[in-house]
Amino acid sequence: MPDNKIVLAFSGGLDTSVAVPWLKEKYGADVITLTIDLGMVDLEFIKERAMQVGAVKALTVDGREPLVQEFLYPALQAGAIYEEQYPLATALGRPLIARYMVEAARAEGAFAVAHGCTGKGNDQVRIEVGVAALAPDIKVIGPIRDWGMSRQEEIEYAEARGIPVNARASRFSVDENIWGRSVEAGELEDPWLQPPEDAYAWTKPLSETPDEPAFLEVHFEQGIPTAIDGEDMSGVDLIPHLNSILGEHGVGRLDHVENRLVGIKSREIYEAPAAVALHAAHKSLEALTLSKDQSRAKARIAQEYADVVYNGLWFTHHRQDLDAYVRSTQRFVTGDVRLRVHKGNCTVVGRSSPYSLYQYKLATYDPGDDYDQAAAEGFITIYGLPVRTQNQAQSQ
Ligand code: ARG
Repeated sequence: MPDNKIVLAFSGGLDTSVAVPWLKEKYGADVITLTIDLGMVDLEFIKERAMQVGAVKALTVDGREPLVQEFLYPALQAGAIYEEQYPLATALGRPLIARYMVEAARAEGAFAVAHGCTGKGNDQVRIEVGVAALAPDIKVIGPIRDWGMSRQEEIEYAEARGIPVNARASRFSVDENIWGRSVEAGELEDPWLQPPEDAYAWTKPLSETPDEPAFLEVHFEQGIPTAIDGEDMSGVDLIPHLNSILGEHGVGRLDHVENRLVGIKSREIYEAPAAVALHAAHKSLEALTLSKDQSRAKARIAQEYADVVYNGLWFTHHRQDLDAYVRSTQRFVTGDVRLRVHKGNCTVVGRSSPYSLYQYKLATYDPGDDYDQAAAEGFITIYGLPVRTQNQAQSQ
């Protein structure tokens, strides 16, 4: 049935591998897999696996550059961190995946797209709302949500169809792209338990990190990191470079009990060394270059932006409007930030900008400043006027 095609977003794991024969059997359709490289995948291996489990075609795409330019950097400029912890790696990848799924479905003439998300998470929402925004006529199928198989039943289903099952599959559920690694399930489901060391892959435990601190300089142009230690780097190189240096120092481990969109609280750990450091550096450069009012307004927008990303509302006019505001605030967020990296901590120890609003001549306590201390008196008289008035008129 050549005109009955489904495009399946395919990671090569057990769930999406089982989804291939399941979709074929349930819909009588040809399954075309689509694997998107957002930084951490072996495309050739996954392509082979897709054909092995019965796909008619295995599409692959390198999504790293669009991920960085269109999603990660705007979110960095916005200061988007969910619930003060999570830099949104998984959440930022989903709308891009949805976009590629729609493009592939159009190019292949597929009537539906399918994904491997469960019915309990945020990712089903992000992908399905994303597809609905871009192509409301395309059907979305969530096989894992629909088939109601237990893990064991899934393994039996796979074995019955000759699909190789990796028996030593991790007890954790992991999602990663260059902005971070998200890990849940296994013992992490007990929020009282300290995460076991083998839940981490990008960051060293403190016992193995160098005793000496390292220093890094990040250069920003209009809120975008463009160089590390004087060396110009594109985002696709800069982010993994930071991940590896900072990961060696144990920077970027986060342990978060978060509020999912579907109403569940869940405990997830994250590793996001570059994202944590870049957010800290960017924020400190903003402290130097934005006015107090801009900083305050922007902090509120940051929270809104994070919610929009987390809640799957990327392809909305609201997000575009927030982006327009954020972009405008970044005109003078240019300069350098010096970071000290040591034993799991990444601290800003210096910042400078050609557009700095910090003026030594105003701030200094040394003689010869530009600040007229005598003028403070009149300012205080007027500023304190309503306080004096109320205390006089309403004292009892
Ligand atoms: N909780 C994160 C989010 O909603 C990550 C979800 C995927 N996590 C995973 N371990 N597979 O964005």
